[in-house]
Amino acid sequence: MCPVPGLFPVSALSLRSSPYENRQHAYLSWEDSVMETDRPLALITGASSGIGYELAKQFLSNGFDALLVAEDAEITTAANSLQDLGGQVYAERIDLSEREGVDRLYSSLTALKRPLEAAALNAGIGAGGPFLENRLEDELRLIDLNVVSTVALAKRVATDMVARNHGRILFTSSVVARMPSPFQAVYGASKAFVQSFGQALRNELKDTGVTVTTLLPGPTDTEFFERADLMDTRLGTSKKDDPALVAEQGFKGLMEGEGNVLGGSLKSRAMGMSGNVTPDAAGAEMNRKLNEPGSAHS
Ligand SMILES: NC(=O)c1ccc[n+]([C@@H]2O[C@H](COP(=O)([O-])OP(=O)(O)OC[C@H]3O[C@@H](n4cnc5c(N)ncnc54)[C@H](OP(=O)(O)O)[C@@H]3O)[C@@H](O)[C@H]2O)c1
Repeated sequence: MCPVPGLFPVSALSLRSSPYENRQHAYLSWEDSVMETDRPLALITGASSGIGYELAKQFLSNGFDALLVAEDAEITTAANSLQDLGGQVYAERIDLSEREGVDRLYSSLTALKRPLEAAALNAGIGAGGPFLENRLEDELRLIDLNVVSTVALAKRVATDMVARNHGRILFTSSVVARMPSPFQAVYGASKAFVQSFGQALRNELKDTGVTVTTLLPGPTDTEFFERADLMDTRLGTSKKDDPALVAEQGFKGLMEGEGNVLGGSLKSRAMGMSGNVTPDAAGAEMNRKLNEPGSAHS
């Protein structure tokens, strides 16, 4: 029986070597016995699909154990499909848009009695469409997930990491963090928040052993666009980057302690770079053409 309520183990413990391995000892409480592992532990939120799933693959195939979190039951399927990569995989189904969900996740982490080496705070949703027509509840839920849960989780994991003077935090931001995003106005603002917050935290923690990295993907081929009701837009129907590439870039940047990691193809990374120098009005006009409902057919 699992001693950690709500936490489902997926694979048996195994040990592998890794260039990123942290040689700290950790003890895993499991099936009434204490197992020893020297694999570091990573938390990945939003790990059931897309970029988070690929990030989980990166962690597991580079010597980490992983606690995967998502809202729906597919998280167990996703975790099962990753169990051959060698590490211990835990899966937890939690709605992180609720404050109680963040608390429950932290309790599960604490119950594992293992230091958290890395946290990928990646769970996020979009909401396409005109601001005046979108449902306020959907946009507030977006803020609860993309912004509030990210801050609440970061507070917990960063506090523990700084106390140990060791750890790595990855925030999934977006290239849209750098340009206003009409018809995704609240989503774009949520990513601008994550980007600014992540970089501010990076600076605050620069004299500690904890690094903070923000990953800025361009349009990436995931379930995001369908879920955000963007499939009738130029953005939704445009060619997109492979989430595996984006995750590989994010993982590498995290391990190397980079600040910003622009994810995806050369074109997407150029888009991310240009956001730094594009005036707001011009960036908004550019994004409007991509995001406007019906733009897929114009
Ligand atoms: N795709 C892009 O073009 C793109 C570009 C830039 C940034 N991003 C960012 O990348 C991150 C990952 O998105 P993605 O593109 O990989 O999309 P995705 O395939 O839709 O993945 C989103 C993940 O977040 C989880 N999630 C959603 N609501 C949740 C909730 N309330 N509680 C817990 N988990 C929840 C989903 O799990 P469930 O299915 O269980 O809900 C899923 O695992 C997001 O932060 C997104 O903003 C994406």
